[in-house]
Amino acid sequence: EKAGYEHFMMKEMCEEPKVIRDTVSPRIKDDNIVLDNIKITADDLKNIGKIYIVACGTAYHAGVVGKYIIEKLARIPVEVDVASEFRYRDPLICDRDMVIIISQSGETIDTLFALRESKKKGARVLSIVNVVGSSIARESDDVLYTWAGPEIAVASTKAYNTQLSALYLVALDFAYKLGRIEKDYYSNVIEGLKAIPGEIEKVLANRDTIQKFASQHYNAKSIFFIGRGLDYALSMEGSLKLKEISYIHSEAYAGGELKHGTIALIEEGTLVICPMTQDNLVEKMISNIKEVKARGAVVLAIAKESNKQVCKAADVVVTIPDVDSLIAPIVAVTPLQLFAYYMALQKGCDVDKPRNLAKSVTVE
Ligand code: F6R
Repeated sequence: EKAGYEHFMMKEMCEEPKVIRDTVSPRIKDDNIVLDNIKITADDLKNIGKIYIVACGTAYHAGVVGKYIIEKLARIPVEVDVASEFRYRDPLICDRDMVIIISQSGETIDTLFALRESKKKGARVLSIVNVVGSSIARESDDVLYTWAGPEIAVASTKAYNTQLSALYLVALDFAYKLGRIEKDYYSNVIEGLKAIPGEIEKVLANRDTIQKFASQHYNAKSIFFIGRGLDYALSMEGSLKLKEISYIHSEAYAGGELKHGTIALIEEGTLVICPMTQDNLVEKMISNIKEVKARGAVVLAIAKESNKQVCKAADVVVTIPDVDSLIAPIVAVTPLQLFAYYMALQKGCDVDKPRNLAKSVTVE
């Protein structure tokens, strides 16, 4: 039950610190990552041609982060695709490839059929799944469970954070086994992952700023999410969350794409949400903020505490603790989930059971 919370969604966001810890800690033994009983050797990894990440909705957005980090750390080429596209496009997979399937329920029909298609073509399938014994878990070669526990709210929150956590473990493990990252770096990122639950506690404790912002802007007709690099992946998830529970139209754009069209839609009072957790891209994002503000946009930025320049550029800044940019998405998604929650609440929407949506999509 709701354990004293008004909605399952809030309860589930508040569980994020715990479930991330449950997902990460059992896989760290003597400062090394051990992915349960999954036997993937350095030789297996050297032989992989390509990794395909396949999923739907929020799980797909976790996959987009997965692509960035696996390519960055392990230097293996990764394609990420929505399952309903992948399964019908006769994908170029072969027996040297690995397919990573991501699913909370483990029952999403398009994702399950994408898995079967991958196996038919001889690929090794590793799935990141939340429901033990689900169809996807049963049919995969290897399973890495996310220990998010039952997720009742239709809009996925804590499952996403644990999917990201699992993907970081996979990326780091592959990269280290392949000799693509140094031991010191590997250990530092592991330490960073262990500290994430505490960082999210701080974000949750700080939710008043977001609540207040939502109470002033819930009448918005259309909202843009703009980010670069990992923040672009995060923007897609922030935008989906907002749409599905508050019914406000929204779109996510890569910062650099703005001037290729979308900026035409920015007018006096348009809300623009800018996650900006990537240190090397903050300056570029500040330029984007200037561009939209010059056209009248109201900007809410999500930035690291120490990033003082952002305060001057944006109208309102929600700060997150100073975490390494690489792992920042696991922390920075929480303010976006909270934003969607408070906007929906202000509008009087049923946050746990949005219209037209089912928790598990088992029909096409
Ligand atoms: C969004 C949401 C959906 C699911 C998607 C995949 O909040 O819940 O987009 O992420 O239907 O579901 P799973 O992960 O169960 O395969």
